[in-house]
Amino acid sequence: MSTFEYRDGIIHAEDVPVTELADKYGTPLYVYSRNHFRAQYNSLKDAMADVSPLICYSVKANPNASVVRTFIEEGAGLDIVSGGELYRGLAAGADPSKIVFAGVGKTREEIEYALKQQILFFTVESEPEAIRISECAQKLGVTGRIAFRVNPDVDPKTHEYTTTGKKENKFGMDVARVEKACSVAASLPNLELAGLHMHIGSQILTVEPFAEAVTKVSNFCSRMKTTYPSFKYLDIGGGVGIKYEPGQRPVDLPAFADAVVPPLKKLGLSVVMEPGRFLAGNGGVMVCRVQYVKENEVKKFIISDGAMNDLLRPSLYGSYHEIVAVKECAGSAQADLVGPICESGDFFAQGRELPTVEEGDLLMLKSAGAYGFAMASTYNSRPRPAEVMVDGSQTVLVRERETWEDLVRGEKS
Ligand code: LLP
Repeated sequence: MSTFEYRDGIIHAEDVPVTELADKYGTPLYVYSRNHFRAQYNSLKDAMADVSPLICYSVKANPNASVVRTFIEEGAGLDIVSGGELYRGLAAGADPSKIVFAGVGKTREEIEYALKQQILFFTVESEPEAIRISECAQKLGVTGRIAFRVNPDVDPKTHEYTTTGKKENKFGMDVARVEKACSVAASLPNLELAGLHMHIGSQILTVEPFAEAVTKVSNFCSRMKTTYPSFKYLDIGGGVGIKYEPGQRPVDLPAFADAVVPPLKKLGLSVVMEPGRFLAGNGGVMVCRVQYVKENEVKKFIISDGAMNDLLRPSLYGSYHEIVAVKECAGSAQADLVGPICESGDFFAQGRELPTVEEGDLLMLKSAGAYGFAMASTYNSRPRPAEVMVDGSQTVLVRERETWEDLVRGEKS
């Protein structure tokens, strides 16, 4: 399927020229392709068909109601990390029995909210958290299902900020601690040990770390399954990487499935997955308009109306997002693409060969569907961008551009 490709010299989002969207909704603008989201979901579902996993879309990647609803309609459950994400998920029509709740710092308020909704299970990061869930469940007279998060100490070879399954990371517990926590939890009232969880990192581009992690917990899972009849799930988390740079090789899904399906099948547990970026990343772009072009003795700067508050990934992680001119143009030159924010860290690209553009031209940053708008802020009192969903030739404004009034809402002087 061709999403965000040139047609007659203009980038189209599915069947809609991006120039039209920018003119109608303004810039900076997030544009999503519903059919890309659907295709990603179904390719993962098909690749993993032998274990029919419950695919819980990781809401943090892109929490827009329309994006979440798209995955729910395909059959997805949700991976949430806050009461706010639970609220969003339910509002988008999620089935609570397909929701898993992660995170190292769940509050009592969040736990009680999730218990009342009877979510599938909490992924639990410490013994005190299990005790807290038990207390909340007793108070409400319900049973809380939990899956401890194991930290398998596997290096996913990704950015240090998105590495989560190594000893030095704050996430989960080592196998020995999980085993002890399981026996503690089994003796706690109103708690049911539903299984095991892990998530080793994000934007992982090889299959080996996933396979290594599954292998590392296999014996343990078999033991737990025998000891605790309620132990039914293995949640292998998210983390499957996507292509950002031209020439970059994303995870090969068949190879991924070949590596993880056989050991999972052997275990005989119900498999849960929590993909975020894989489902949403390449289904979204951010479009911005060139405001100025300026040069000094050493550099050329293209200054756009989009900035680090709109798309933080380049500033925060040094991430690469492919940048193309929305209207095909011939020339290119080395330049920095920057925004109007008062920080030198406000850039989308530095010293990159970029299209020769001038004031008023549109540029598009690819692969912005995951952790794009989700991490946007109003820094420098810049209202957050609008979001548009394209489905074939249909376009829906799925989040209005924020206004200056929105910026001061709730404030007092
Ligand atoms: N499950 C858990 C428990 C997670 O913490 C995450 C992501 C996911 C699933 C989904 O991971 P994914 O499939 O999207 O890799 N802001 C960073 C990414 C942070 C990921 C946080 N956790 C970025 O822009 O690259």
